[in-house]
Amino acid sequence: MDLSHTLCLLLCAAALTVSGVLGKDENNMEYVWTKQSLPVLLDAHTQLLNTPMFRDQEEDEEGPGSKRFCGIECQSTLPPMDRSEQERILGYETMYENGTRTHTDITLQGLNKSAGVAANAPKNTRRKRQVYGADGRFVISDSQFSTNYPFSSAVRLSTGCSGVLVSPKHVLTAAHCIHDGKDYLEGSRKLKVGVLQIKTKRRGGGRKRGGRGRGGRRGQLEEKEMSERGGDGDKKKKANRIRRSAEPRKQPVFRWARVKQTRIPQGWILPQSSAKSVSPDYNYALLELKRPLMQRYMELGVAPSSTPLARIHFSGYDADKSLLDGRGDGKVVYRFCSVSKESNDLMYQHCDAQAGATGAGVYIRLRQQDGDAGKKGKWQRRVIGVFTGHQWMEDGDQTDFNVAVRITPTKYAQICHWIHGDPSLCKEI
Ligand SMILES: *[C@@H]1O[C@H](CO)[C@@H](O)[C@H](O)[C@H]1NC(C)=O
Ligand SMILES: *[C@@H]1O[C@H](CO)[C@@H](O)[C@H](O)[C@H]1NC(C)=O
Repeated sequence: MDLSHTLCLLLCAAALTVSGVLGKDENNMEYVWTKQSLPVLLDAHTQLLNTPMFRDQEEDEEGPGSKRFCGIECQSTLPPMDRSEQERILGYETMYENGTRTHTDITLQGLNKSAGVAANAPKNTRRKRQVYGADGRFVISDSQFSTNYPFSSAVRLSTGCSGVLVSPKHVLTAAHCIHDGKDYLEGSRKLKVGVLQIKTKRRGGGRKRGGRGRGGRRGQLEEKEMSERGGDGDKKKKANRIRRSAEPRKQPVFRWARVKQTRIPQGWILPQSSAKSVSPDYNYALLELKRPLMQRYMELGVAPSSTPLARIHFSGYDADKSLLDGRGDGKVVYRFCSVSKESNDLMYQHCDAQAGATGAGVYIRLRQQDGDAGKKGKWQRRVIGVFTGHQWMEDGDQTDFNVAVRITPTKYAQICHWIHGDPSLCKEI
């Protein structure tokens, strides 16, 4: 996309924010968030595991395509999962800040076939590959937009991925941003989540801000700018910082919040000998922050399975040096696109995205169900999946796809359990 059109894009973004993205489909059909009951997920047994090794990601670089996943078509040849396998896969690992790791077995109650767990056949919604005129990425340059909903619910991880705020203190992201299927990645040990905020007046070198009466403590957030954080290339960041501070306009900066614990489904953790596994379906993780963020979050949802997904949206922090003079990673990038192929668990799409957008929350807009007859509900965005990036899939002739994991009722029940820990709050959606 031509970057000289940033202003136009900004205006477009403004229009989107005001009127919403009213695609044809969204306009003409009565797309509504439907209520459905959920299976109940209960913890059965938790055991302590050994401390992870925190491998360096580099060890795994065996070239593209070295690790292939079983994709939509490949999975349709697998036998349906029985209940005990589902329970195994929905078990989960928790890793705490101090490196302690536990595994929890779960049991599922009230599991219906219609809940869409067992059947994972590709739906007959294959569309022609199309390039839409408006397809592409929108760099949200204006801080007024980038620091407000919905773009502000997109967060950045210190490992370089993106994520989405789904509660005041929970971030949904891709599992492979913290765990490669075998072990936790080096960067997951001291994980932090960055939100873009307008910099207010600096105090005492900008390291601390008054923490709402929490005087003595270390402030509500880890309030350090991106530029002050170590990582890949301190010098470069310092240079950015100098450039940034020379700018007259107020630029939003990242405020970093510490992660207290991470959770990944057992389905993502590869058994030793699994040529054909469903692990791409479970490429999601939930991060719990130490303290809640004062930021509007986006609710989780389950996309109705009765109608094909027309259009999905997501915002993230693409690590794309071509964007904005190499400073793309400090800007939230928004895009929408159509889904080309979907199953209950996966979506293939043609959204433009670079690596840093991995983990971004994929959302759709539907109308809320309304009690009053005759009245249309309000449009509401909900996160219905996680963008998991460009992946190599074992799937007929084509092998590489842009993939997103879809939240099914059972996955919703699991994530809801992680957020609330109270089954009574996760009975229906
Ligand atoms: C399962 O089906 C029964 C009857 O059809 C229904 O009452 C129940 O709410 C369903 N449970 C779930 C989790 O969908
Ligand atoms: C690590 O943290 C967890 C959760 O706070 C706690 O249960 C566990 O005892 C801690 N382990 C060590 C070795 O400190």
